[in-house]
Amino acid sequence: MITKCLFPAAGYGTRFLPATKAMPKEMLPVMTKPLIQYGVEEAVEAGIDVMAVITGRGKRAIEDHFDISYELEHQIKGTSKEHLLDEIRELIGKCTFTYTRQIEMKGLGDAIHKGRVLIGSEPFAVVLADDLCHNPDGDGVLKQMAKVYEKYRCSIVAVQEVPMEETSKYGVIAGKTIDDDLFMVDTMIEKPDPAEAPSNLAIIGRYILTPDIFELIERTEPGKGGEIQITDALMAQAKKGMVMAYKFKGRRFDCGSIDGFVEATNYFYTLGQTAP
Ligand code: UTP
Repeated sequence: MITKCLFPAAGYGTRFLPATKAMPKEMLPVMTKPLIQYGVEEAVEAGIDVMAVITGRGKRAIEDHFDISYELEHQIKGTSKEHLLDEIRELIGKCTFTYTRQIEMKGLGDAIHKGRVLIGSEPFAVVLADDLCHNPDGDGVLKQMAKVYEKYRCSIVAVQEVPMEETSKYGVIAGKTIDDDLFMVDTMIEKPDPAEAPSNLAIIGRYILTPDIFELIERTEPGKGGEIQITDALMAQAKKGMVMAYKFKGRRFDCGSIDGFVEATNYFYTLGQTAP
């Protein structure tokens, strides 16, 4: 059973400057909810109740969002707007939030390693909140992955087919087909040029990791861009044991990019208009 989810949220969000100069990228709203709230809701749906957030300088709004705002509550109490806080109040009531800071942005692998103090020695989920996932037809992506974990008990990365010319934006895997939507990873390359990509199966911002990953990250040298890449640590894990790649059901929006963010906003707006 996975009970903890790590949210690496220390990045600078430079693609959204100047919006992200003083505001965390994870707090950018799609409709009325910040990106990280969608991620926490997805984790809760998967049965997780401890949210471990890796923050950094300028990210305090995340902590305030998952806390009570007494002044605001007092102001809108008894008015027609009170219900607007119901959803977030309920969410806060279901979870425990823990935080630690990544002092220097040394990459996603390093950010995940910083979470060790919050996670301990149990398997855990990782959500990159700027990848916004939604499955209108059933279980959310993390819940789908938790079910795969129950069966295989190894690290799992969520993958999606992308156009070949976009492989250089992602970690890309190749492996043995276990099922229609499941692969046993044997190759994993961070941001390969299309000519070097082993497939078009790209890793997106959802992982389930077994705790031995922390020691593997410690042994991982800086890779692409001089950063500690989680892909490199996962490749070491795949060589030692087993890592699965799961082709999830549902939509994923890259809200770390302007195009993906606008697409997500249009999608959720339309969904809101058509919902019963
Ligand atoms: P990104 O590279 O997409 O995020 O990292 P970024 O650096 O914030 O954005 P840009 O590229 O400058 O616009 C993916 C995720 O990993 C986290 C980020 O917060 C984001 O959620 N991350 C990345 C860290 O927490 N620490 C790091 O050192 C790097």
